[in-house]
Amino acid sequence: MKALAASTAPSRPPDPRLPPGPDAGVLTQTVAFHRDPLGFLRQAQAEFGDVFTLRLLTARPLLVVADPEAVPLLLESDPRRAAAGSGRRMLLPFASTRSVFGGDGEAHRRARERIAPAMSAEAIDAHRPEMARIAARHAAEFPSGHPFQLLPRARAITDEIFVRLLLGVRDERIASDLIAAIQGMLWTPGNPPLTLPGKGDGAFGELGQLLFERRQAPVARRLERAIEARRAEGPGAGEDVLGRMISATPALETAEIVDELLSLLMAAQQPPAIALTWLLDRLGREPPLAERFAAEPGGELADAVIRETLRLRPPVAGVLRRLGEPIEVAGRLLPAAVNILLPTTLIQHDPRLFPRPERFWPDRWVTTDAAQQPFFPFGGGARRCVGEPLARAEIETVIPAVLETVRLEPLAPEPEPMVQRATVLVPRQSLLVRRTNGTSAAAR
Ligand code: HEM
Repeated sequence: MKALAASTAPSRPPDPRLPPGPDAGVLTQTVAFHRDPLGFLRQAQAEFGDVFTLRLLTARPLLVVADPEAVPLLLESDPRRAAAGSGRRMLLPFASTRSVFGGDGEAHRRARERIAPAMSAEAIDAHRPEMARIAARHAAEFPSGHPFQLLPRARAITDEIFVRLLLGVRDERIASDLIAAIQGMLWTPGNPPLTLPGKGDGAFGELGQLLFERRQAPVARRLERAIEARRAEGPGAGEDVLGRMISATPALETAEIVDELLSLLMAAQQPPAIALTWLLDRLGREPPLAERFAAEPGGELADAVIRETLRLRPPVAGVLRRLGEPIEVAGRLLPAAVNILLPTTLIQHDPRLFPRPERFWPDRWVTTDAAQQPFFPFGGGARRCVGEPLARAEIETVIPAVLETVRLEPLAPEPEPMVQRATVLVPRQSLLVRRTNGTSAAAR
């Protein structure tokens, strides 16, 4: 019961090469971090400065670097000096070493090259009309007459877009089974204040691994069927993600493709749905702004609203790197082989960079120097999010389609606080809203 002992014992004495940090026990730190990530990080920053060490159930030690000057240094570093795949696998041990998300070096390069053309802005733009249709169909089904959680609804939209348009699953039965299986994979009652431990996390980790594999198995089986169905279509597999993987050289086995796609899903499933949810929350609070956004979703005002929302409510909690060699940060030499978190939330709420950081003020992106400050909701450097064009297209098509179909009113007078789930930040109650116009198609 190594992990249980570690979770209840106070933090080990700090490694003298590491900066100090909170001395609460591992479990206490983990729960506090998951319940109120921004508050917890702020408190640690106030006490220990811009670089401090956390000890979490799934990552110990974890060096938090909130020094604004370190952001470009670490993001632009040679991936051998600061590796992303191994950094992410510490928190998400299920990510495959051969995938775009969990791989490093040559394995990462090959995996990214295989799918990047299918995820370019040009390829994605062709899907915009269909994205809007999918969103409008879902929005028409939003419940009426009682409050509901918006986040799972947004996830249903982005899951369908991912399966039908990005992967390109054409068989109706396989597509709908796959979408349902993906949704089942992440389901939990509420937002638990812990991340499932995995491989390398002791006895708890073994259990976590088993549970995760059980949840993943139905997705893997449906992906296999989708790949086999596409192979059966014969030569000219297509330019979408499935097509590109099936026609890759050297050829990939079905199991290898499934492995890569499962890790792609880890990166792709939550963040765009979270971004859509926070945007709909904001626009639900400010109907005149919603009207202007919908009228010109690619315009300057909408761009500023998107930036300001991603600044205040970044879907991904931070950028992870594992140091390949010592690096000097904020006057301190950080040793090799440690895991670093650049916390998006904390840095994007830093009053030294964004005056009155709590204020939702899109105009700051037009009238102040905000655009010169570290702002990295999609990460940066060679490992910058490959799904950014898709996320952008989803925001620009799904939001207007939803706004045209339903009027939504958030239940809480202020935006819900963010809580941490694995590597993402979600609204504490998955964003409770009420539909204030029309009846859901399902109820008619
Ligand atoms: C608003 C939506 C999204 C946000 C905020 C977001 C954010 C991020 C961030 C912060 C990273 C880490 C970058 C780094 O380490 O420097 C990342 C990586 C990644 N994202 Fe996204 N993401 C979003 C949507 C998507 C979508 C829609 C997909 C795929 C369909 C996707 C696929 C990936 C992949 C594969 C990586 C790993 C890239 C690499 O290491 O080469 N993301 N994303």
